Amino acid sequence: MARHRVTVIGAGNVGATCAQRIAEGGLADVVLVDIVEGLPQGKGLDLAESAPVVGHDARILGTNDYADTANSDIIVVTSGLARQPGMSRDDLLARNAGIVRAVVQEATRYSPNAVLIVVTNPLDAMCHVALQASGFPRERVLGMAGVLDSARFRTFIAQELGVSVSDTTAFVLGGHGDTMVPLSRYSTVAGVPITELLPPDRVRALEERTANGGAEIVALLKTGSAFYAPSASVFEMVESILRDRKRVLPCAVLLQGEFGTRDLFVGVPVVLGSGGMERIFEIKLTAEEQAAFDASAAAVRELVEKLG
Ligand SMILES: NC(=O)c1ccc[n+]([C@@H]2O[C@H](COP(=O)([O-])OP(=O)(O)OC[C@H]3O[C@@H](n4cnc5c(N)ncnc54)[C@H](O)[C@@H]3O)[C@@H](O)[C@H]2O)c1
Repeated sequence: MARHRVTVIGAGNVGATCAQRIAEGGLADVVLVDIVEGLPQGKGLDLAESAPVVGHDARILGTNDYADTANSDIIVVTSGLARQPGMSRDDLLARNAGIVRAVVQEATRYSPNAVLIVVTNPLDAMCHVALQASGFPRERVLGMAGVLDSARFRTFIAQELGVSVSDTTAFVLGGHGDTMVPLSRYSTVAGVPITELLPPDRVRALEERTANGGAEIVALLKTGSAFYAPSASVFEMVESILRDRKRVLPCAVLLQGEFGTRDLFVGVPVVLGSGGMERIFEIKLTAEEQAAFDASAAAVRELVEKLG
């Protein structure tokens, strides 16, 4: 069986940790790309040198040259800037849109059949940039956010109830930001909705902590943002695609009328297999949930319109 190959663009915190998880998980060979000379080469070599100790056979290559990424099955895009002091959200949007456009154009030229997983923020808007820059069908352009947001919700639910995270499931829809929509009636412990296990004020508190989960980490770290849980979330998506597992995972995908939304990337549950997004798992929302979903979609649309 041919070895799989995953390209990770951006050798920063999220990208390098993704490369580590994918290689150590035995999923694929990894090509790590960055614009900074020496950075992907150094991290790639360091990761390769851990293989004899960890015990895996993945090949890891660090490079600044997209020719080295040819024929990748999956391209993970983590390259971008974090918001700097004095930089407005709109500045960040424009700068990261330029970076994502450039790297996607380069990488997809060498891997025209790959599945793209976008991680760079602002996530949903960057998915639009990646879709345009690649010319790929919507099935092969996915945004990572919902898996992370659900993982955070599951962590908080398990901590609150003193139970294993393995027995919790969580459901988070909508854009990646403070307008995301944690759906508590579909979030369960051993199949029992948390709305039956916790009083409404505790459920609301967990939902709010989830929606602010990224900011909570930034406030603690002060000089960066989360990367362990984000890279674990990318790993879960990569694994479902490469092993054609048909996992049902929340991902940002281009909606074409599903959930009452059109021509917009928003997080919804999808079936992930070897072709990327194989099916959108549409569920019926209550009027209140639909209103929250629509508000979240409107926030995404506002950003996308600024891209012009
Ligand atoms: N979707 C999510 O849930 C989620 C979660 C965590 C982080 N993020 C986002 O992921 C991105 C990366 O985060 P990080 O913590 O790894 O940041 P980081 O600063 O550690 O790494 C970013 C890397 O991108 C590289 N880069 C910049 N421009 C490039 C270009 N043109 N070509 C190639 N590489 C380039 C930089 O040199 C740097 O190494 C950020 O936009 C962050 O907001 C998203």
